[in-house]
Amino acid sequence: MNDGGGVSGTGDQGRQFGPLGMALVIIPTYNEAENIQSIVGRVRVAVPEAHILVADDNSPDGTGKIADELAADDEQVHVLHRKGKEGLGAAYLAGFQWGLDHDYGVLVEMDADGSHQPEELPRLLTALKGADLVLGSRWVPGGRIVNWPKYREMISRGGSTYSRLMLDVPIRDVTGGYRAFRRETLQGIGLAEVASQGYCFQVDLARRAIKSGYHVVEVPITFVERELGDSKMSQDIVAEALWRVTAWGVGERVGRVGRVLGRKDAAGAQEPPTAPKTP
Ligand code: GDD
Ligand code: MN
Repeated sequence: MNDGGGVSGTGDQGRQFGPLGMALVIIPTYNEAENIQSIVGRVRVAVPEAHILVADDNSPDGTGKIADELAADDEQVHVLHRKGKEGLGAAYLAGFQWGLDHDYGVLVEMDADGSHQPEELPRLLTALKGADLVLGSRWVPGGRIVNWPKYREMISRGGSTYSRLMLDVPIRDVTGGYRAFRRETLQGIGLAEVASQGYCFQVDLARRAIKSGYHVVEVPITFVERELGDSKMSQDIVAEALWRVTAWGVGERVGRVGRVLGRKDAAGAQEPPTAPKTP
C-alpha cells in the first residue's frame, strides 16, 4: 500500500484522480511575528508556484502587519485579517472559504512556526496526485519528531490513539496539522457543520474525510519543534478535543446500534422470506 509516496491509505484506491490545480498554502497565525517572514520565504522557495494565505487573528504582536508587508512585495502572498482570536478551526474555515472562492485546486494546512517543513511539501503534493487528502504524519514509519517535549509527544500520541479507537479511523496521526486537500474533498465533507475550534478541528476533518469515503493517505514527515515564540496549546484545547472526540464516538456507536435495531424491527414486521407457505 504505497501509492504516490503514501504509506497507508483509506477509501477507494482504484480510482482515477484528476490533475492538481493551483495550490494555496494556508498559514494560521496568532503572535508569530518572529516566524512569519521565514516561513513565507521557505514556502516560496520550496514550492515557487504555490500561493500563500496568512490567516491572522489580529495578533497583538503585529504579525498581520508584517504579513501585509510581505504581501505588498509579492503577488503570490495574501493576508486574511480576522477580528480576534477565535481558534485554529475558525481561522482555517475562513481560509478554506477564501481559497475555494478564489478557485484554488489544492488547499494546504501549515503551521507558521517551522514545525511543518515547507521543504517536505513537494512530497505531500506528489502523494495528492493519487489521493483526496494527504496527511503529514509523525507516527508512521519514517515519521519523526525533533525537540518535542515528552509531555507533548504523550498528549499527541495518546490523542491519536484515542481518536483512532473511538472514531474507528485507520490512521496513525489523527491530530496533525500538515495536510493537503483537493478542493473537491473540502467541498464534500460538510465544512458548514464543523464547529471545532481548537486542534480537534484536525481530528474532525480527518474523520469526516474518511467517513465520506475519501482516499486519505499518510506521508511521513519530520516535525520540528518551534525555536521562536510560544505554542498556543492549552488545557481548554485538550479538553475540547477530549469531549468532542468522545461525543462523536458515542454518537456513532448509538447510531450503529439504532440502525441494527431498526433493521431487526423492519425485518420482524415483515413475513420472513423463507417462511413456509400454509397450504
Ligand atoms: N489564526 C489563528 N487563530 N491561528 C492560530 C490560533 C488561533 O486561535 N491558535 C493557533 N494558531 C496558529 C499558530 O500561530 C501556529 O501557526 C499554528 O496555528 C499551530 O499552533 P501552535 O501553537 O504552534 O501548535 P502546536 O505546535 O502546539 O501544535 C501542533 O500540534 C497539534 C497537535 O498535534 C500543531 O501541528 C497543530 O496543528 C496540531 O493539531
Ligand atoms: Mn507549533
